[in-house]
Amino acid sequence: MKQKIQSMREAIEAKLSSVATTAELREIRSVYLSRTGEIPALMKQLGSLPKEERPEAGKYINEFKNWATERIEECEATLAAKELAERYEREAVDITMPAESRPMGALHPVTLVRDELVRIFSGMGFVVYDGREIEDDYHNFTALNQPEDHPARDKQDTFYVTDDILLRTHTSPGQIHMLETTKPPFKAVMPGRVFRCDDDATHAPMFHQLEGLVIDKGLSLCDLHGLLDTLAKAMFSSDTKTRFRPSYFPFTEPSVEVDVSCMECGGKGCRLCKGTGWIEILGGGVVNRRVIENCGLDPDEWTGLAFGVGMERIAMLKYGLNNIHLFYDGDVRILSQFH
Ligand code: PHE
Repeated sequence: MKQKIQSMREAIEAKLSSVATTAELREIRSVYLSRTGEIPALMKQLGSLPKEERPEAGKYINEFKNWATERIEECEATLAAKELAERYEREAVDITMPAESRPMGALHPVTLVRDELVRIFSGMGFVVYDGREIEDDYHNFTALNQPEDHPARDKQDTFYVTDDILLRTHTSPGQIHMLETTKPPFKAVMPGRVFRCDDDATHAPMFHQLEGLVIDKGLSLCDLHGLLDTLAKAMFSSDTKTRFRPSYFPFTEPSVEVDVSCMECGGKGCRLCKGTGWIEILGGGVVNRRVIENCGLDPDEWTGLAFGVGMERIAMLKYGLNNIHLFYDGDVRILSQFH
């Protein structure tokens, strides 16, 4: 038995001196020390020894077992330290190396303006309504009190699909849809695409508007001024002033064009405002009685305020761009600047 243990001890030493990985070591441990390993097997052989030899042999095997356990653990500690050191070496990161830059996406400036407008009006209790881009003549023109011979109906301005179907030229047909489907009073904004045969530095055949419509009792131009003044201050800056100039739209009476004090010079006069100190941002007015009537409501009972903002125009003013086509050319050098 002693001899057997002695040779086993030598075998273990030999194996441990050449072991290179903790995985190999685990294998050695299992061969000798696991429940079915060689050292527990020695214990089982005790029974075959003469009775008087058993205590001493048992003690001897136990000592051997303790020795083997200790040696393997020692070896394990050394190996683990070595493997960790190697891993640190292998996975070392050079923190002075320049990082690979990842391109950052950005929202389109018109999206930013739309989100901002929707946020401002939602805060004032407006609902958001999605209109339709393809309209019939009735909703785009007739119901909005645009006479047959009105120049806006001219085929040069409007993209017609058929004689009666067209790409909406403004978001105002949304007013009609709202009035036809919604019980007053209500407040709604309707952002979306509009289409006109028009193309120069400040006009594109497709652009975006946001229509606003408030229907309630006893509304006046004063309410519109308060509303749009709040809008201008939220959109540009708290010291922005607004002024109304008389204008004409068939669907509002009276109609106004709304100017804000120039965001560039604050009203002193500069190139952006062409020396006037004012910049036009939108059109609006008190909803024409005939529009309310056309939608089956009593214009003596219900009054309305309406306005339409060009979102590209707001974006150009806000971000200092002078050509509307910069929004559509898809040049990431321009578009990635709007975070
Ligand atoms: N629809 C008009 C336009 O496209 C703007 C507008 C909307 C004016 C609502 C008055 C009321 O220019």
